[in-house]
Amino acid sequence: MKDMTTDSLTLTVTARHDDAGNIMRLRLEDPTGAPLPPVTAGAHIDVLVETRGEAIWRQYSLAGDPADRTSWHLGILKEPASRGGSVALHDAIREGQSLRITGPRNHFALAEADHTVLIGGGVGITPMLAMGYELAARGAPFEMHYATRSADRTAFRDLLEAAPFAGHVQVYHDDANRITDAVLPPPDPCTHVYICGPQGFMDWMIGAAEVMGHASANIHREYFSADVDVSGETFEVEARASGVTVTVGRDESIVAALAREGIKIDVKCEEGICGTCITDVIDGTPDHRDQFLTDEEREEGAEICTCCSRSKTARLVLDV
Ligand code: FES
Repeated sequence: MKDMTTDSLTLTVTARHDDAGNIMRLRLEDPTGAPLPPVTAGAHIDVLVETRGEAIWRQYSLAGDPADRTSWHLGILKEPASRGGSVALHDAIREGQSLRITGPRNHFALAEADHTVLIGGGVGITPMLAMGYELAARGAPFEMHYATRSADRTAFRDLLEAAPFAGHVQVYHDDANRITDAVLPPPDPCTHVYICGPQGFMDWMIGAAEVMGHASANIHREYFSADVDVSGETFEVEARASGVTVTVGRDESIVAALAREGIKIDVKCEEGICGTCITDVIDGTPDHRDQFLTDEEREEGAEICTCCSRSKTARLVLDV
């Protein structure tokens, strides 16, 4: 059900399944039975979570068949060490409950390729599942590699065994047949690699792909959390359209500094992974701290994630 004033949807949780590895699987449907918005593989939605008296938005990849307009499927890892969104959802969600969401948005879409390699670590398998459905429907050549800690901490087993792409999937466990970078294909302009998982897993696999010679544009990455350091030297930000200049403190974000002067930039993840806070740069050189922009976009310096990134120059002029 769509809220036209906020552009959000209210969906009903029609199934909850607590899977292995502390992963909660949810099925969401429109309460009126209306078809859900169209999605492509790799898309995510933002879910509104009430935790510790505040409302925060958390991003979750859609794991189901993108061609299915009747329901969406999420896999949510319970992460006690995180800022509380996943724990609050695990504790609160019941079948029949409503969830407010925005999206879908897709920054991790499939490119045209002769060969596609999908690599998911833990709950990072969720966008790969949607990609598996889409690639299988296209009849495209691909392989999926899924790394988990152990067999008894492997979520989505039933889905993987029954999926139309089951024959494309190889599962690895840290305590048995641990995944290695040998799953990476030889570099080729027409081969694309998709990687999603915990930050250490991603850094390792992306680094290995780069060393092998894969072009940055062919290594697609989706972070679901990031340890982001927003601290650094102070600098000035001029919000050109608003006619305001602020000083960004050593431990302050650009978003927070501008908010002191009443200039609001929308944020969701606040850790540089969703792209909601992106702002155009008119002058100055950003010090990128996010995981959202591509290497080429960072190099260009025309945009900045204002929730976490800073400035290499004493002054940054933004189009806000
Ligand atoms: S709010 Fe998500 S990248 Fe800044």
